[in-house]
Amino acid sequence: MVLSGKKILVGITGGIAAYKTCELIRLLIKAGAEVKAVMTPSAKEFVTETTIRTLTRNQVYIEQFPVRNWQPEHISLADSSDLFIIAPASANTIGKIANGICDNLLTSLVTAFKKPVILAPAMNCNMWESHFVQKNVAALKKAGFCIVPPESGELACGYEGTGRMASVDKIFNFVEEALHLEPNLKGKKIIITAGGTKEPIDPVRFIGNRSSGKMGIALADAAFESGAEVSLITTVDINKAYKVTKVDTALEMLEATKKGFVESDILIMVAAVADYRPKTVAEQKIKKENSDSLTLELVKNPDILMEISKIKKPEQTVVGFCAESENLFDNALKKLKEKNLDYIVANDISDPEIGFNSDYNAVTLIDKNKEAVDFVPMPKKNIAKLILKGIVDD
Ligand code: CTP
Repeated sequence: MVLSGKKILVGITGGIAAYKTCELIRLLIKAGAEVKAVMTPSAKEFVTETTIRTLTRNQVYIEQFPVRNWQPEHISLADSSDLFIIAPASANTIGKIANGICDNLLTSLVTAFKKPVILAPAMNCNMWESHFVQKNVAALKKAGFCIVPPESGELACGYEGTGRMASVDKIFNFVEEALHLEPNLKGKKIIITAGGTKEPIDPVRFIGNRSSGKMGIALADAAFESGAEVSLITTVDINKAYKVTKVDTALEMLEATKKGFVESDILIMVAAVADYRPKTVAEQKIKKENSDSLTLELVKNPDILMEISKIKKPEQTVVGFCAESENLFDNALKKLKEKNLDYIVANDISDPEIGFNSDYNAVTLIDKNKEAVDFVPMPKKNIAKLILKGIVDD
């Protein structure tokens, strides 16, 4: 059973979608999880405590200040659960969590919760579109909460629009993915490249790109947390508890990557490497009064992954990334073959929610046998763990 031994806390807030949460609890238990439920006082308007107690086969937690034992429940329940899923998450509860308000057991619990939290919002479409709800959802996403997007269709209030809680199956997928995050990387040496290269034009200008480096850094952090010896080669100025080599240009990145690769088990090339660089770099700042137009001659940069494929040993794993705006699967597969990769992670950049600067990502991991796994939109740090797990556990 996929969720065997997992302890899941289900939070129910006041919304008509609470009736679907009964089915979610049943699914989680069927998959082997131990489920405990916490309800807000208004959730009791929609489902009864008896229903939830019978389904979870556990006491239901509602009161913020019970006197059952010495340990405050919002701390003991938070400590003993592997994951917290709040479904439905009302606009009211979303607002409270985003602003650190702890006025009932559920909001206190989520504030004290250190492990993954998933929220499945459900509300009227006008409420969902409200500036304040969207602002709160964005703040929660930024803080690493996983949001299962509400669906469009006919709403219980009679409106048509976006606000219906996602299907129970979809929520279940999020739970499954969030719980299978920890890859075992003890004893593995990993090099990860991150950020966009900068190709100088003169002492102050360069040709760059919009890569933020966030995905590569999330991968390096996740690999480090999972026990790997990490070497990050990046154009971003950062300090980490693992080795960081700062580079600017594609040529510098090539040299650092080749040097580190010899000793490594895994290379993950997330960096957006400039395909071209200016043929010559002006020694002095280019002055505009000298000319009405400026032509830069560009020459091709070496392809780092192509160079790596020449020295790669069979026991080494090489992973490429590609950002595509169309034909994601075919373009990714072409690159996987051309660059002799073991895996490629394909990124759909047509969606602004999961693009370059976002903290969220949705990717497809494809292996040499054309086997593809889609990861639903989630914080980059969660995607990072799933990618690492996909690579090492295959
Ligand atoms: N890459 C590389 N060296 C380059 C360019 C890209 O190692 N000079 C790597 C990237 O780090 C990524 C993979 O190749 O892991 C795919 O990068 P992408 O830019 O999508 O592919 P390109 O081969 O540059 O093709 P195009 O830009 O034409 O889509």
